[in-house]
Amino acid sequence: MITARPLGSTRQATTTALLLKRSYRTAVSANARPTLRCGATAAKAKAVVTPPLTSVRYKSGPYGYTQAKALVFSKFGEPSDVLKIHTHSISPTLPADSVLLRTLAAPINPADVNTIQGTYGVKPTFSPLIGTAEPSAIPGNEGVFEVQASTSPALAKGDWVIPARTGFGTWRTHAVAAAADLIPIRKDGPEGALNRLQAATVAVNPCSAYRMLRDFVGADSGSGGGGPMREGDWFLQNGANSGVGRAAIQLGRRWGLRSINVVRARPTAEATEALRAELTALGATHVVTEEEFLTREFGPRLASWTRDAGPQGVRLGLNCVGGKSAQTVARNLGPAATMVTYGGMARQPVALPTGQLIFRDLRLRGFWLSRWADADVAAKRATVEEILEMCRRGEFADVPVNEVRWDWEAEEGVLRGAVQGTLEGFRGGKGVFVFEET
Ligand SMILES: NC(=O)c1ccc[n+]([C@@H]2O[C@H](COP(=O)([O-])OP(=O)(O)OC[C@H]3O[C@@H](n4cnc5c(N)ncnc54)[C@H](OP(=O)(O)O)[C@@H]3O)[C@@H](O)[C@H]2O)c1
Repeated sequence: MITARPLGSTRQATTTALLLKRSYRTAVSANARPTLRCGATAAKAKAVVTPPLTSVRYKSGPYGYTQAKALVFSKFGEPSDVLKIHTHSISPTLPADSVLLRTLAAPINPADVNTIQGTYGVKPTFSPLIGTAEPSAIPGNEGVFEVQASTSPALAKGDWVIPARTGFGTWRTHAVAAAADLIPIRKDGPEGALNRLQAATVAVNPCSAYRMLRDFVGADSGSGGGGPMREGDWFLQNGANSGVGRAAIQLGRRWGLRSINVVRARPTAEATEALRAELTALGATHVVTEEEFLTREFGPRLASWTRDAGPQGVRLGLNCVGGKSAQTVARNLGPAATMVTYGGMARQPVALPTGQLIFRDLRLRGFWLSRWADADVAAKRATVEEILEMCRRGEFADVPVNEVRWDWEAEEGVLRGAVQGTLEGFRGGKGVFVFEET
């Protein structure tokens, strides 16, 4: 979802880039320590000219410049081969209607890895904006930031914001952005407070689940469409323990939908049962393993579960996986049902018998969050706010995460390794960069 520029919409890209160019200065080579002339204390500044690797970081560089780091890549490839830390400085002079941001947390999503590999639906344009030796892009599509300084009347120091559009480049300690490219987040209220992980992970997976449950069934008026999903309707999803899957389970339960959830068996029976129990607690109606799902016995089981739905059966399938799993989702949907493909974790094509389309009138759709979110920022804002409201009220469980600490001393290899591991299966939680003293 990295777009063709480091910040902003197409309309604003040129102006923003010009303004921001003046903000990102004093590029320092990758992983080098900046030479500091003023810092946290005058005494330290006098004593140390070039800090040794173990030194405490000075938060502010010469003349109030902010020292910042970003993960960058300047060619496509495996994250472990192409990602580098780049250190640079940000000018204290902000353009009008802009903010200086400090990153609080930024997830590592499968799409970010695909973007670095060059296999994603949109490719970034490599730019020299932050002074890298070669033009580069900053990965990361979502994250939450704290405003450090502002020239915008709409945002004040301490406010939390998330990017309005995809392709922001969130894997960095600091950023300068136009206020118009940000969505303010109310971090607390009478109903409760948000934590930074909730704010950082709201924009991609929960929004995707929300839109797929709401926007596809009944969207076309062809034969047998049957109108939008209603209370009591069933949906069937694979990859049900993914971030999207967990959000779909919870939103589905909230809206009275019943769900059949397919997960891969864990290495032990106990671990599989624990995962089943976890998803059931979130609101899953049934949880089955891929192995159970792919057997002949699954059809009769499903029929017994969904008997009260009548001939319409399961109305919606959500496909995160592809291959045989997607075929089996399609086969178990009701007539004229919709299967929405949003992920391809098995890296296998979605191939279906033609009879599914001709005789059963199955509707095959694809969902791409970027297309939806970038086309209608107001809708994204409303969806984000609705989900965060559930979070503040304690009505939406956080996705399990593996926190990857990123402070000034964070090692390039550790950050790169966390990204590289993202597409491996059986992970305990989503990798999230959690920013400490930066
Ligand atoms: N189209 C869009 O706009 C959109 C938006 C959001 C997400 N997505 C896509 O949705 C998918 C899930 O994203 P996420 O952030 O929710 O991921 P996530 O939380 O990291 O979960 C990954 C999921 O994929 C499963 N998985 C991994 N490798 C697999 C394989 N070889 N075969 C079958 N399942 C496999 C995992 O199952 P195990 O636990 O068993 O490993 C887990 O359920 C990704 O493909 C992502 O790109 C698309």
